[in-house]
Amino acid sequence: MQERLKTGIKALDEILDGGIPRGHSIILAGSSGTGKTILAQQFLFSGARDGNIGLYLSLSEPRDKIIKNLEDFTFFDKKLVESDMVKITDLSSNAGLKGVGLQDPTEIMGLIREIVLDSQAKRVVIDSITALAANFADDAKIRNFIYELEFELMYLDCTTLLISEIPPQTFKYSVYGIEEFIADGVILLTEFERKSELLRACQVVKMRGVNHSRSKYMLKILEDGINLIPFFNAGLE
Ligand SMILES: Nc1ncnc2c1ncn2[C@@H]1O[C@H](COP(=O)(O)OP(=O)(O)O)[C@@H](O)[C@H]1O
Ligand SMILES: [Mg+2]
Repeated sequence: MQERLKTGIKALDEILDGGIPRGHSIILAGSSGTGKTILAQQFLFSGARDGNIGLYLSLSEPRDKIIKNLEDFTFFDKKLVESDMVKITDLSSNAGLKGVGLQDPTEIMGLIREIVLDSQAKRVVIDSITALAANFADDAKIRNFIYELEFELMYLDCTTLLISEIPPQTFKYSVYGIEEFIADGVILLTEFERKSELLRACQVVKMRGVNHSRSKYMLKILEDGINLIPFFNAGLE
């Protein structure tokens, strides 16, 4: 069996029969507030606690704000951030400092490669691929970039979460309509209303090489991070 990387979310690792296969690029899709950033951070901190370096490349939020939002979670460990075991980098400002044009896919690819090699990370999160690709002028460039990025990260022996920001209540996994076909896996976070409350759900839609459940699980964000509960236990059906 292909080596698996634990996500740090117990139920998700069980669904995935041990975790995400090493070297996979996964689309983590969902609308705003569904838990994408928290899930991705948990994946990085879980790896770092076992000695694996993680890299979080942000496009939408500055580093300080990201850290501030994580501080209350029990999986967060300031020491792992300080020692660069979980390296949080603002890709936009990094590109600015190095004079790299965000509109140029080749330059961005070079910058990502440099940051990954420099950090020695084996777990990489890009938050979000939607924001990153929005800088490119046309769809052909976007497709090519995502395709090459996944190839490059696999070559660098990274297991990657590409966060995809989709509008609420839509039945698609990506903004450009192609990410899910190129990716090795798709994890979808959704929201739904029950008794005028907005609840969250999580579903593994695709995971190459894994015989997984495609059931929807109820997702709760608690002090210890993401928790998944089978729907028949959640008292909703
Ligand atoms: N300490 C916490 N306890 C419970 N829920 C929290 C906590 N911190 C944040 N949240 C919830 O997590 C949501 C944000 O999750 P996040 O992963 O940033 O979403 P996304 O990245 O999908 O936009 C917030 O809207 C809030 O409801
Ligand atoms: Mg987010």
